[in-house]
Amino acid sequence: MEIYAHRGSSGTHPENTLSAFKEAARLPIFGVEFDVHMTKDEELVIIHDEKINRTSNGKGFIKDMTLAELKTYDFGSWFSKEFKGEVIPTLYEVLELFSKTSLQLNIELKSDVFPYPGMAEKVLDLVGAMKLDSRVVISSFNHEMIRTVKQLAPHIQTAALFMEVLVDPLEYVRALPTDALHITKHAALRPSAKKVIEEGVPVQVFTVNKVCQMKVLKEVGVRAIFTDFPEKMINHLDNISIPKQPMPIISTIKNIMYKNK
Ligand code: G3P
Ligand code: MG
Repeated sequence: MEIYAHRGSSGTHPENTLSAFKEAARLPIFGVEFDVHMTKDEELVIIHDEKINRTSNGKGFIKDMTLAELKTYDFGSWFSKEFKGEVIPTLYEVLELFSKTSLQLNIELKSDVFPYPGMAEKVLDLVGAMKLDSRVVISSFNHEMIRTVKQLAPHIQTAALFMEVLVDPLEYVRALPTDALHITKHAALRPSAKKVIEEGVPVQVFTVNKVCQMKVLKEVGVRAIFTDFPEKMINHLDNISIPKQPMPIISTIKNIMYKNK
């Protein structure tokens, strides 16, 4: 099983900042995940929420601010005073940082609340110009954008993100189409997810911060997890062995997943 740093090493550094990404870049992990929004002047920036309120000393929507205005805010102090002065990174700055590594790059397009027309095209143009096509997977909760990405650039790997548990995710993957499913821990333990895994479709799970949860997800055949604590999880991953006996029944797995460890 593989490890993605979720929003960089966001458990130890302020999420979606260059500090969090530099920390991820020094680890022997598979990849890094980060979230993209678009500014008023159509620049691509890395932040999770539609607003900057939670992760900066400013207030307001990304869509209503220019990049120059956004760059005046502090995106580090909310996490710890040690990170005071951290600025919001652009997609270019983050891709530039990771172009010097071999990490896989999961670019999550946050267009599910505001549609950000033209975002998919801009992201694909930049990824192409930086020759990162083979290292990128583009995911989104906005599945119309996943379809657009596949139409514009069929060679780019995509993933559909779900909070919900689907009755037949395999059918959905084929209909969209998309290359992978990014789902919750709960959904990954359902028989429907087992069917997807058995068909060879990559199933990757967010957000997994407990070693006992990682162990169960490895046992059910999940390809990768997204974690806020990539260093802790990679250190434990090597010590996880998969039992030879048949996979435990779902109720047993659930007991392991949710015990307080
Ligand atoms: O891509 C996995 C995960 O990042 C999706 O949820 O809300 O953390 O972006 P969120
Ligand atoms: Mg995300």
